[in-house]
Amino acid sequence: MTAPVLEVTDLAVHFPGRTGAPVRAVDGVSFAVAPGETLGLVGESGCGKSTVSNAVVGLVPPTRGSLRVMGTEMTGATRATKHDIRARVQMVFQDPVTSLNPRMSVGAAVGEPLLVRGLASGAALRARVSELLEEVGLRPEHAQRYPHQFSGGQRQRIVIARALALRPDLLVCDEPVSALDVSVRAQILNLLVELQQRRGMASLFVSHDLAVVRHVCDRVAVMYLGRLVELAPRDALFATPRHPYTRALLAAVPEPDPVAQRAKPRVPLAGEIPSPSNPPPGCTFHTRCPFATERCRQEVPAWRPLGESMVACHHAETLA
Ligand SMILES: Nc1ncnc2c1ncn2[C@@H]1O[C@H](COP(=O)(O)OP(=O)(O)OP(=O)(O)O)[C@@H](O)[C@H]1O
Ligand code: SF4
Ligand SMILES: [Mg+2]
Repeated sequence: MTAPVLEVTDLAVHFPGRTGAPVRAVDGVSFAVAPGETLGLVGESGCGKSTVSNAVVGLVPPTRGSLRVMGTEMTGATRATKHDIRARVQMVFQDPVTSLNPRMSVGAAVGEPLLVRGLASGAALRARVSELLEEVGLRPEHAQRYPHQFSGGQRQRIVIARALALRPDLLVCDEPVSALDVSVRAQILNLLVELQQRRGMASLFVSHDLAVVRHVCDRVAVMYLGRLVELAPRDALFATPRHPYTRALLAAVPEPDPVAQRAKPRVPLAGEIPSPSNPPPGCTFHTRCPFATERCRQEVPAWRPLGESMVACHHAETLA
């Protein structure tokens, strides 16, 4: 097996909380992304998806755990090492409006990473910017324009061109189409898939939309209250979800076919998400799980293999 592009081991990110108890936004997450692979990260709002991606690109410091990029440990690394390795990992955020400096021309924005690192300047830089713009479906003459002259979808293309400038090995996408018009979402998703295939680039793809994840991801990790509850190849996850939370998430996605919709098992997802400052003991999902037993309320379920999946549930076998 080839070495992973990204290896996350027991990652925790805690924030200072208003009540004194820390906010355990991420609390012991482990996964790896193989070269060229797309790993989806899904879960309800507030479960910690953005905090994981922000930690991966170095925007928030881990409280605990290890982050290895191309085999190099990032936590505790020197500034120079971090600077080098960060070029291998680039991020595309949800909102293309706030991701671009309105006073910077498109050409300056896309070329900035190359200029700052002294990798190109002058005519060579302009040529690279033209190539990058064409690669994302824009035209070289767009380099002279400013972000406000473009639509949301085009701005996200500009953001993607900028993220590609340093030829990253991993692209971290945090809800890359959620802020866009429904009509352009598929185009941007297809562009991302196409770029990845052409460049052999891996991706960590964060989304709350399971239909989107199903369209673009090879494997899917499901997160609940700062932890992973299931990780499986895409088809296995959608065909045989192992964790009650995954089953509930899938049940909430409407089927386009009314017959399939009626045949769908109903797994109600009752109750509120508990506070990450005060997570429930045992299995943190027990307060909402229809299958919870006394053991679930006391004992933290192990992260273990089951079939093609990894799952954290005491009763995953009996539910299957
Ligand atoms: N800087 C911060 N300080 C304190 N708490 C934070 C901070 N950033 C995030 N949190 C909290 O950490 C938890 C996880 O937040 P995060 O943004 O990672 O979730 P998410 O899964 O990306 O949600 P969404 O789907 O809404 O984007 C939430 O409870 C959030 O309020
Ligand atoms: S461990 Fe228990 S409470 Fe947690 S998901 Fe499994 S059955 Fe539900
Ligand atoms: Mg988020």
